[in-house]
Amino acid sequence: MTHDSSAASFLFHPTLELLPDMSTRSLRRIAATLAAVSLSAACTAPERSEPVKPAAPTTTPVERGRYIAIVGACGDCHTPFKMGANGPEPDMSRMLSGHPETVSVTSAPALAPPFAWAGTATNTAFAGPWGISFAMNLTPDVDTGLGSWNEEMFVKALRTGKHMGESRPIQPPMPWSWYGQMSDDDLKALFAYLRSVPAIRNRPPAYQPPGAPPAATK
Ligand code: HEC
Repeated sequence: MTHDSSAASFLFHPTLELLPDMSTRSLRRIAATLAAVSLSAACTAPERSEPVKPAAPTTTPVERGRYIAIVGACGDCHTPFKMGANGPEPDMSRMLSGHPETVSVTSAPALAPPFAWAGTATNTAFAGPWGISFAMNLTPDVDTGLGSWNEEMFVKALRTGKHMGESRPIQPPMPWSWYGQMSDDDLKALFAYLRSVPAIRNRPPAYQPPGAPPAATK
């Protein structure tokens, strides 16, 4: 209130001070110039050969995708954790390469309620009522990662929650139903970024439905 009005008077003060100093003549001159400028703009606008560009995004799709991957925390499950000085931390030398094929997971641990699911120390394999799921290799490696995927498959998988866009349901805890609400442009940017990261050869085990025989041991 007091604060608002003083802010307002501060804002308007310079204008009020300025106006009395200006002669009516100079004000008229300014008005005439402004009218001429807007008239010439009105005349020239339709003749522009280039359409007016919308406010340009300042980032490339890859940069935008990197931003989404970071704030979307893809690395929280798709980059294996290692033990660091201050506790578990993502092992960036294996960035986005999924559950390490060298870390064997043979069965789900026994859990007592209210606990219902568990994760490995790498935070890349998860056991729960859905069975055991393994974070996929999201690097562009052709044999073991996203290298053989195309943009359409990627967008479809995250939109529909179907493995590779069309087969079995994608299992928890992959939060596809949240990511699937991104715009097409953002999903495509995310894919473009994932195609730009270093390819790492690593084949996570296949998803194990509940009660299925354990994945091959090492
Ligand atoms: C909370 C853990 C978690 C997070 C966070 C996460 N994922 Fe996943 N993701 C998984 C797991 C687990 C699987 C394997 C699911 C399965 O096999 O059905 C998976 C699978 C996938 C797949 C393969 C889907 C398919 O068709 O089988 C893609 C693509 C994927 N994630 C992309 C991403 C991207 C991109 C992000 C970040 C925007 C992300 N994930 C974040 C856990 C996660």
